[in-house]
Amino acid sequence: MSEKRTVRLADSIELPLVGFGTYLITNEDAEAVVTSAFRAGYRHIDTAEGYQNEEGVGRAIKAARTDLGLSREEIFITTKLWPGNAEWGQEPKTTATTIEALNASLSRLDLDYVDLYLIHAPYDPEQRLAQWRGLVELKEQGKARAIGVSNFSGKHIDELVSAGLPRPHANQIELHPWSQKPELVSYLEKNGILPIAYSSLIPLSTWRAAEGQKSAKTEAMKAEGESADFPFRAMAKKYGVSEAQVLLRWAVQKGYPVLPKSTNTERLEKNFDLFSFAIDDADMSAISGMDRGDGVAWSSGDPTRVA
Ligand SMILES: NC(=O)c1ccc[n+]([C@@H]2O[C@H](COP(=O)([O-])OP(=O)(O)OC[C@H]3O[C@@H](n4cnc5c(N)ncnc54)[C@H](OP(=O)(O)O)[C@@H]3O)[C@@H](O)[C@H]2O)c1
Repeated sequence: MSEKRTVRLADSIELPLVGFGTYLITNEDAEAVVTSAFRAGYRHIDTAEGYQNEEGVGRAIKAARTDLGLSREEIFITTKLWPGNAEWGQEPKTTATTIEALNASLSRLDLDYVDLYLIHAPYDPEQRLAQWRGLVELKEQGKARAIGVSNFSGKHIDELVSAGLPRPHANQIELHPWSQKPELVSYLEKNGILPIAYSSLIPLSTWRAAEGQKSAKTEAMKAEGESADFPFRAMAKKYGVSEAQVLLRWAVQKGYPVLPKSTNTERLEKNFDLFSFAIDDADMSAISGMDRGDGVAWSSGDPTRVA
């Protein structure tokens, strides 16, 4: 029997397990790169107000519909509300400005609705509830088929539920062998909230290695990824795939949708190929022992890096 390539998000909504991430892809490059992703078979595209590339993504969606003959229903689009962070001198969004924000995203994407709308981060204790009320209203208006959050803890989600509001359908979080977040994942699973994994490729020496994307953290990781005993190298060799495929397959095998980003066509094609092999029980159990706790992608606190 062939493996299921989607996971249930809500009601009758199915989310493709392999999506395409677009953080750090410019608006100018987005049309061509996302078009390559559609051609490679990706049907879920993850963007955000904060990535400033929704227009380019929208042009690629239009091209996929005309050139590849894809229907709107065959394409799954996620975008995210930039909630505003008072600590960075930004005005936190209210319910009204949250509604305006999705309308603006829809106009940039040239769509009538998105499939999933997320609050990008739980910055503002005062406005979090107001923003979530906005998402609930947008779902009622049919502008978002499903709604969720990103970078939220269990406590943040409890806050929404205690206010009598519906539970999010998903929480997009940094999730990979070095940051497995067992407590948060078990909370999400218990509450019927889908964990969506981002930054799956963090253990690789090539992760955000381009000029302008490097940091002290990525330099330290680079050395580790290039060392002779990097565990994912041996696994990649054993399964005849790339190290990236091993990391992505680990998530998919756990039931977490993934969102690999690449501007390189050969890499993005390979990253999509996750159902031609499986990681055996011994390797899955070895990977379980690699958790190092909190992640690295979201902790920079730098407002210009809003992934
Ligand atoms: N909600 C949030 O707060 C949040 C935070 C972070 C990310 N995200 C979402 O998740 C997506 C993925 O996360 P991410 O962009 O941080 O990282 P990622 O997809 O885990 O990794 C991307 C990095 O790995 C490199 N790469 C890609 N495929 C590779 C391969 N096969 N072999 C070697 N290197 C490879 C890419 O370089 P090249 O482009 O040069 O190939 C890039 O530097 C984002 O684009 C975004 O959509 C969301």
